[in-house]
Amino acid sequence: MEKYVINGGKPLQGEVEISGAKNAAVAIIPAALMVDGVCRIENIPEISDTDMLLTILTHLGAKVRLINRSTIEIDSREVRFCDAPFDLMRKIRASYYLIGAMLSRFGHAKTTMPGGCNFGVRPIDQHIKGMTALGADIDVRNGFVYADAPDGRLHGAKIYLDKVSVGATMNIILAATMASGRTIIENAAREPHIVDLANFLNSMGADVRGAGTDTIKINGVEKLHGGSYSIIPDQIEAGTYMVAAAATGGEILVKNVIPKHLECISAKLRETGTIVQEYEDSVLVKSNGNLRKANVKTLPYPGFPTDMQPQMGTLLCMANGTSVITEGIYDNRFKYVNELRKMGADIQVDGRIAIIEGGNALTGAPVMACDLRAGAAMVIAGLCASGTTEIEDIHFIERGYENFVGKLRALGADISIIDFPDDTENADKVISIG
Ligand code: EPZ
Repeated sequence: MEKYVINGGKPLQGEVEISGAKNAAVAIIPAALMVDGVCRIENIPEISDTDMLLTILTHLGAKVRLINRSTIEIDSREVRFCDAPFDLMRKIRASYYLIGAMLSRFGHAKTTMPGGCNFGVRPIDQHIKGMTALGADIDVRNGFVYADAPDGRLHGAKIYLDKVSVGATMNIILAATMASGRTIIENAAREPHIVDLANFLNSMGADVRGAGTDTIKINGVEKLHGGSYSIIPDQIEAGTYMVAAAATGGEILVKNVIPKHLECISAKLRETGTIVQEYEDSVLVKSNGNLRKANVKTLPYPGFPTDMQPQMGTLLCMANGTSVITEGIYDNRFKYVNELRKMGADIQVDGRIAIIEGGNALTGAPVMACDLRAGAAMVIAGLCASGTTEIEDIHFIERGYENFVGKLRALGADISIIDFPDDTENADKVISIG
């Protein structure tokens, strides 16, 4: 079993290059299924979620060619509807995008109910509401979602989302792109990766307008042609390194970012006394480790991102005073708190609120990664703590952070991936230094 082993207490120093946005890539890869041509996609993050989606597309007959580490070509001219690898679909949340993409390309779809990080109930009722409004018959049974456009093609509709949902907004855009007529999505999510998906589709001949606002208009087209596109940098990966710099009292130049996408994170870090200097495509984050308390409430973009909440939880353990985190998106995104308590954190959780008594030094301990961002939070905690921290279930972390260990080691972190067979006495040699 692979674990991260971290010897903490060293400020991170240096530069880090941010990879392509995971939550854009996991929508753009399914969207490539809709293109009757060849898509060249650059800045794809090398993470397990994108690997799984590319495997699913290959199973559907797409030809995937690796140009270099972060550039691929997807040729979907020969794709045919068939049962895709359900065991892969079940593992990732983004498999729901295959519903919209398959409906657009084939007029029907069969996917599993989505998987993904487990922090409370994560329904897809808004996705179903949107597809139904576009004319699809939807049937959910035996763990599968069946969707069918009665006459082979969806039709435009006006859809008001009851909840601001990133996934439902993106999925409806996918389904409406090749529907007949005009679709309007109201109360749409505004995240940068939604704009990225719209820009990708438009570069392939779609007509999607207003992405990034709460009203998105899509004029359906007959087909999509091939083309090239480069994915935006990952807002959350960037934010994770920014928080790591602040928490460890270090100095990191975070490169290949869009500072506007990081505004809320930068503002919150400045509240803690951290210095954040913005440049054209990078941000410099510097801290002396003497952090002030701050309160955080997660909200849809442009509010403070929920995917940065666990990382902030760790940072506020290092801040002086009492901080309050309010989780505005999910029911139960504080599972990492129990792991932080093993390291000496003083946090009380009541529903969607966590009260953090900061200023106590963390000490290394064996802990778990409960999900992707909780895992990142535990890595930051291990980097801050005195002594050694071992983190299990690192597969969650590898889903969303490209070369995490390698990038951290380049910043001076003492972190390794160790393969522990079941009996930990014979801990194997270091299997990889990232
Ligand atoms: C996306 O999940 C991201 N995942 C999540 O990132 C992110 O936390 C989330 O958006 C919010 O920004 C991907 O893009 C693959 P939502 P998604 O639909 O689409 C409720 C990460 O760490 N809801 O915006 O599932 C839902 O329960 C991951 O990278 C419904 O009620 O999120 C939640 O409370 C974790 N009905 C809220 O809306 C629906 O049909 C927002 O969910 C859909 C959602």
